[in-house]
Amino acid sequence: MDTKEILKKMTLDDKIYHLVQMTTMTYLKADGTDIVTGPNSTMKLDKEYIYDVGTLLNLVGAQTMIDAQTNFLNHSKKKIPPIFMQDVIHGHRTLYPVNLGIAASFDRQLAHDVAKMAAYEASLDGVSVAFAPMVDLVRDPRWGRVMESSGEDPYLNSEMAYATVKGFQGDMGPHNVAACVKHYAAYGAAEAGRDYNTVDMSERTLRQFYLPPYKGAVDAGVKMVMTAFNIVDGVPCSANKHLIKEILREEWGFNGVVISDYSAYEEMRDHGYCADRKECAYLAMDATSDIEMMSPCYANHLKELVSEGKITEEQIDKAVLRILDLKNDLGVLDNPYRSVNLEESKRVQVGPEHRAIARYAAEQSAVLLKNDGILPLSKDIKSVAVIGPNANTGAIHGNWPCGGKIEETITVLEGVKNIVGDRVSYAKGCNIEYDSTDESMIDEAVELASRVDAVILCLGEHQDYSGEGDSRTYIDIPDVQYKLLDKILEVNKNTAVALLAGRPLTISRLDEKAPAILDMWMPGTEGGNACANLIFGNAVPSGKITMTFPRVLGQVPIYYNAYMTGRPKLEEDDFNRVRFTSSYLDMANSPLYPFGYGLSYTDFEYSDFKLSADTMQRGDVLTASVKVKNTGKYKAKEVVQLYIRDLVGSVVRPVKELKGWEKIELDIGEEKEVKFEINEEMLKFWTKDMKFEAENGTFDVFIGKNSACHKFASFELK
Ligand code: NOJ
Repeated sequence: MDTKEILKKMTLDDKIYHLVQMTTMTYLKADGTDIVTGPNSTMKLDKEYIYDVGTLLNLVGAQTMIDAQTNFLNHSKKKIPPIFMQDVIHGHRTLYPVNLGIAASFDRQLAHDVAKMAAYEASLDGVSVAFAPMVDLVRDPRWGRVMESSGEDPYLNSEMAYATVKGFQGDMGPHNVAACVKHYAAYGAAEAGRDYNTVDMSERTLRQFYLPPYKGAVDAGVKMVMTAFNIVDGVPCSANKHLIKEILREEWGFNGVVISDYSAYEEMRDHGYCADRKECAYLAMDATSDIEMMSPCYANHLKELVSEGKITEEQIDKAVLRILDLKNDLGVLDNPYRSVNLEESKRVQVGPEHRAIARYAAEQSAVLLKNDGILPLSKDIKSVAVIGPNANTGAIHGNWPCGGKIEETITVLEGVKNIVGDRVSYAKGCNIEYDSTDESMIDEAVELASRVDAVILCLGEHQDYSGEGDSRTYIDIPDVQYKLLDKILEVNKNTAVALLAGRPLTISRLDEKAPAILDMWMPGTEGGNACANLIFGNAVPSGKITMTFPRVLGQVPIYYNAYMTGRPKLEEDDFNRVRFTSSYLDMANSPLYPFGYGLSYTDFEYSDFKLSADTMQRGDVLTASVKVKNTGKYKAKEVVQLYIRDLVGSVVRPVKELKGWEKIELDIGEEKEVKFEINEEMLKFWTKDMKFEAENGTFDVFIGKNSACHKFASFELK
């Protein structure tokens, strides 16, 4: 359709209301009563135009979409169908592991495939835009939204962002959805990990670490960008002209739709950045932000701003046209119902095919943090107990359930039963609440543990303890869980911990005590089956953490790609006190588990490290290679990681930066050579003059199993 022709027929009011986003639920009643009495009433929108807003948010269910769209179009004057947007974060109806888990798979194809599956399910419910991927780089596990993120590395996060956008959008066919990358920008850097809190950093840090993931999504052709709640350098992201107009649109060439976060325009008053809603509207439009989600600044003030000559109608036209073009790309202008399909949604959603994908994703995401050799358990085991507050609950599928249901989620207990049948028994042991001190269930659990051959102890946090608004100041498991563990270990040493949590936890004590720890994150709809498959060796763990696990909370923020400082503490002195070095009096500098870390049931031997040359002329490509051999007893996958360090720069450079990885699968005894190409592009950074380029000098090269690996070669860039 010719969107410019549609635009021509719209009045200024029509156009302004096209920039407004409302919730779907208020359009459900055919008589329109919810419009007047529902939450939208507080926005004081003009009733004449309420059925001509451009977009709706939050929708689950094909029938809901059909009802809302029908009512909307029946009342609408202009009859331009709204598009439905939804938080499809880690699945739609079938949930896959939280995104921090998907990142731990280090599997781009998997990130792509799960997004594709979610898009398919969402499209059948009439969703056209997924508010995802969330790609905020994060170094602080107190922040509850780490579960939605890929973690602490700019390169890995960019790669995952790219793959996810491709998975959602595909070729924008009927069963794809448009992706909306968020939260632009640097939302994950909230001070002290407190949600919505202040973000303040240098432009260099912003560009070097925090912006690349959003850029990865833009490079993949993402259709939308959501701005963040926070400020950066004193300016709210919602109306940050530098971020939106100068970097996103002018530097990166993004011409898609920019949307605010929920009521974030009007929150600029609370930030103390705008005196009133009118100023919020002015600054947001001036920054070229298009859609206002759930606050009325545009609707109530843009017209006035146009009449005063502060905003031109042309600015508004551009924003409306971007939305119309998106609708056109999605096919909604021709078919308002797009791919909604009641029958097909019932058949496909949470069906066996999608469950299989979710199960595989959860197996690939899990990280084996410790194993004294008790895992995997034998499937012939005579008796096993599944114990713990996370053992017999479907509330392990993760905190953005979208349409996912607890009762459709396979618990760990069910998963184990599916493998060993009635040889499994269960006891709860204690409650999951972070402030629970109730020890009354421990004795029964210990008695059970004393009678079985092995215990699978499901500890961690409740799925609602990580997510939006779920920041925590204490991120260890509660004492009552430790008491349960201690007492069980007294009667049964054959105890493996399945950890279920949406974030890295400070589990030094657990690491000391438990013979084995398998981090399942929040594993999605098929979590219990995946966990059981891993515990009994039907699948072999291969995930690697993408956020550093601190030993204690006092080390936070802690991340692998830090700077050296002028007084570095030597690695061999990590546990000694060396005063006047950059260190702690009472704690090592090293983390409990470094970025990239994760064990397997098998062993991998790395040998024959090679670098093709020790100098690189600009434009050259060097090859770094290594041989990796499976020397253990299981066919398994390994994530081989390449890191580079730029020794001297016009500004200081990180001690190590991830520059590549390959996930390989090796049979027992099999050996493969893994090769990485190193080119000039990979050596670029934001120099002292804020140019993105590579500087001449020496670079160290590291290949290994995780970020604690050692350098094996150097080269000179000339
Ligand atoms: C607020 C969240 O920050 C954002 O991620 C989400 O997309 C919107 N609410 C809409 O639900």
